[in-house]
Amino acid sequence: MAVVSRLNAQPKPTAVPAPMQISLRGVRKYFGASGFVAVDGVDIDIPQGQFFVIVGPSGCGKTTLLRMLAGLEGLSEGTMTINRTDPSRPENSMVFQGDSLFPWMTVFDNAAYGLRMRGVPETDVRESVQLWLERIGLWRFRDRFPSQLSGGMRQRVSIVRAFANDPEILLMDEPFSALDEQNKMVLHEELLRIWEASKKTVVFITHSVDEAVTLGDRIMVMTANPGREKAMIDVPFPRPRNVLELRHQPAYGDLVFNIWEQLREEVQRARANAEGDK
Ligand SMILES: Nc1ncnc2c1ncn2[C@@H]1O[C@H](COP(=O)(O)OP(=O)(O)OP(=O)(O)O)[C@@H](O)[C@H]1O
Ligand SMILES: [Mg+2]
Repeated sequence: MAVVSRLNAQPKPTAVPAPMQISLRGVRKYFGASGFVAVDGVDIDIPQGQFFVIVGPSGCGKTTLLRMLAGLEGLSEGTMTINRTDPSRPENSMVFQGDSLFPWMTVFDNAAYGLRMRGVPETDVRESVQLWLERIGLWRFRDRFPSQLSGGMRQRVSIVRAFANDPEILLMDEPFSALDEQNKMVLHEELLRIWEASKKTVVFITHSVDEAVTLGDRIMVMTANPGREKAMIDVPFPRPRNVLELRHQPAYGDLVFNIWEQLREEVQRARANAEGDK
């Protein structure tokens, strides 16, 4: 009996926490001769596979932070560590706000662009692009040019291009901000579906608190300029998520309300700053 009770008393195995993919320490960014401070002392740890969302008022430094993560912009101060799990894959792919497709290339060629730039064999390119275009429902539009697509379809091609490139980290800067509500809702579902299948680390910028809560595992609210962390919020909703059902839960409304309260102060401060600049 003693043995049994000792066995029962053994601690349950705990889940191994995911290793950190991105660590920022004291990251600052200044611009120009005046030393304008865009990002002011940001510390973040993002585990592998996390869907990390950044919200903050216009001009608070969100894009600057993302561009530093992408390696498109240097740090003025601080350190950034990106832990690679598979150096044969690209470190990151970025999905930009608005249109970033090449207008002279077909849907297929746009989606294949990153893979071809990396010199991936053409048979593998074709297989991967077909898979991702099928997953997002655009395979039959593969020979069209961007001007022959709706805005929502163009954004889907941008997303396919990023996923097909198979990066470790996806960086998304307000990818849906130009879309109407219906398109956004469908794209939220599609993005969640394909992300849940791949579990890539995502850093996603948005102005929309609804979008942040719908998609994210964790949300960082940034202060008005200069941009710092104001709050870090865990999103407790399980996955896979059904966008429509999620939005009907009272807990969803409570979380959106709480984040809005944090954000409202900063939006007002950003507006006051802008008035002061006039
Ligand atoms: N290359 C640059 N040179 C000088 N200032 C810059 C540069 N890039 C950004 N800034 C300034 O840094 C601040 C942060 O800009 P950023 O684009 O990161 O803001 P944001 O939070 O992405 O805003 P939005 O929500 O409107 O996209 C702004 O005041 C912007 O004018
Ligand atoms: Mg921006």
